[in-house]
Amino acid sequence: MDDQLVSRDKPRLLRELVEFLAIPSISTLPAHASDCRRAADWLVGHLARLGCSATLLEGDGHPIVWAEGPVVAGAPTLLIYGHYDVQPTDPIDEWLSPPFQPTVRDGRLFARGAADDKGQVYALIKAYEAACDGTGIPPLNVRFLIEGEEECGGHFIATLLQEQPERTHADAILVCDMSYYAKGWPAVYRALRGICYAEIELRTTRRDLHSGTYGGVAPNAVETLCRLLTDLKGRDGLIAMPALYDRVDPPTKSELAGWALLPFDQTAFLHEEVTARALVGLEDRSVFERTWALPTFEIHGIRGGFTGDGAKTVIPAVATAKVSLRLVPALSYEFARDQLREACRRLAPDYADVEVRFVHGADPVEVDVTHPAFRLLDRAFEEVVGRPTVAIRAGGSIPVVTDLARGGAPVLLTGIGLPDDGLHSPNEKLDLQQLWDGIKVFGKFFELLGETRDENNTS
Ligand code: BES
Ligand code: ZN
Repeated sequence: MDDQLVSRDKPRLLRELVEFLAIPSISTLPAHASDCRRAADWLVGHLARLGCSATLLEGDGHPIVWAEGPVVAGAPTLLIYGHYDVQPTDPIDEWLSPPFQPTVRDGRLFARGAADDKGQVYALIKAYEAACDGTGIPPLNVRFLIEGEEECGGHFIATLLQEQPERTHADAILVCDMSYYAKGWPAVYRALRGICYAEIELRTTRRDLHSGTYGGVAPNAVETLCRLLTDLKGRDGLIAMPALYDRVDPPTKSELAGWALLPFDQTAFLHEEVTARALVGLEDRSVFERTWALPTFEIHGIRGGFTGDGAKTVIPAVATAKVSLRLVPALSYEFARDQLREACRRLAPDYADVEVRFVHGADPVEVDVTHPAFRLLDRAFEEVVGRPTVAIRAGGSIPVVTDLARGGAPVLLTGIGLPDDGLHSPNEKLDLQQLWDGIKVFGKFFELLGETRDENNTS
């Protein structure tokens, strides 16, 4: 183990990460397909230089990076998952430095993907580098599985793991695409929400109409869609699909007791993270419950009518909304799909044609955090940052986790980001101290896991 890697090599480490972040690997935009490939190639080159046999897996979508370290007989096998793709950068005007010109300000590295997830993938690779001995031999068997479609709901990785489940055969799986609960409070996640992403298209007339001639009588598609959307979730935050709430188990007493011990300043959360004047949603439920343990319905964007410069007096015939439901345990993607389809049918007026197209989805995930590998991760965090992990839930989703978990290995969902990193927002960042600590934590974790040799190991 090279304990000095971080203290010795910070300028080089930063230079490498900047090079990786500068590649605009936006998976959802077809124009960036070649950039996604460049990011994948960058990883293959980098992992190969560290002594891994690294390749691209090709299929229906952006390539997947697969790399294996040298075989370490008798040692456990760790599968490391991450994603090299990033979200789009809009609204671009709000970035203080360009999203793909990584810039350090005040000890923080600003770039799209700095925290979600390229910076974290990089930390794992450097932890591997640090954990290797002088001849490039790691303390355990390591496999990297780094996909390029996490942010866009691509199917390639799910298909791959269904066809080749042996890729998930490991003694532990490490997913580092999350954040600490708060500064100084590393976390593991016992649940991730699932998602049901859809486009609702609504038509009221065969063509757009003059809003003077027909205004007052013709049904307006944008207005009708807005009404449907506000009926799908009321002012009180209640989603008009009661069956969703019927199925959900409330958090147990012991989980609630755990939440009560977490430091939480609701005013700071409102002003600094949410950046609003008020929180909304189910008033009688706590923020933790609303963001971790209940379903949500959100509108991501609405298209319809005239939105260009200038003015055009038109009654639009068609309008579309992109929406999603977040799903907590007991709410499957399939069930949510039925519920959304049925609710649109029930709530739309007879004069409107409504089509609900499902774009992508994922089931929610629950993880048993009692496996001994979690205690090793605790020891690593405790040694480097002075506190073991807290087991919490996540509001976000990582679709592939269900496929990863199928092989039976414990899935350690964790991360080195902070809650204010601005994932998917302008000015996404990663605190450099989190990066340096993260490299040390995972290096230590690899070493500790490598010491657990028994005859039940996968290798
Ligand atoms: N890193 C996030 C997931 C995440 C966010 C976990 C916040 C915990 C807290 C991941 O990259 C992500 O954003 N996933 C998408 C998946 C979706 C596009 C299917 C998400 O949650 O929106
Ligand atoms: Zn993300």
